[in-house]
Amino acid sequence: MPKVKLHIDGEVIEQEVNENANLVVLAGIKQFPKLKYGCGMGKCTRCTCKVVEGAEGLEEPNWKEQKMLGEKLTEGYRLTCQLRIQEDIEISQENISIRPPRRKSVTTTK
Ligand code: FES
Repeated sequence: MPKVKLHIDGEVIEQEVNENANLVVLAGIKQFPKLKYGCGMGKCTRCTCKVVEGAEGLEEPNWKEQKMLGEKLTEGYRLTCQLRIQEDIEISQENISIRPPRRKSVTTTK
């Protein structure tokens, strides 16, 4: 079973999880009660984490992460709600303030 090390609020929480586990789902059932998240669907960026170690064990960012994080992906940021944990990983939600990109407004003229 993969191990997850989460840095948050000055603490380090370490837990084993089932393979392909989603940490937001586990937060919902209190295995990671301090994990920050919101929509669970890749739309709000509240779950953004920085991968400290183990990025190579993750799947490539999906279209939601690419849309919401853009260039931040190259700095190691990921949307926790979009990750399936398959190998040991260390992530941090310390001092992260990433906001969703602004929506383009659509104006119509007649
Ligand atoms: S919880 Fe909203 S983007 Fe992950």
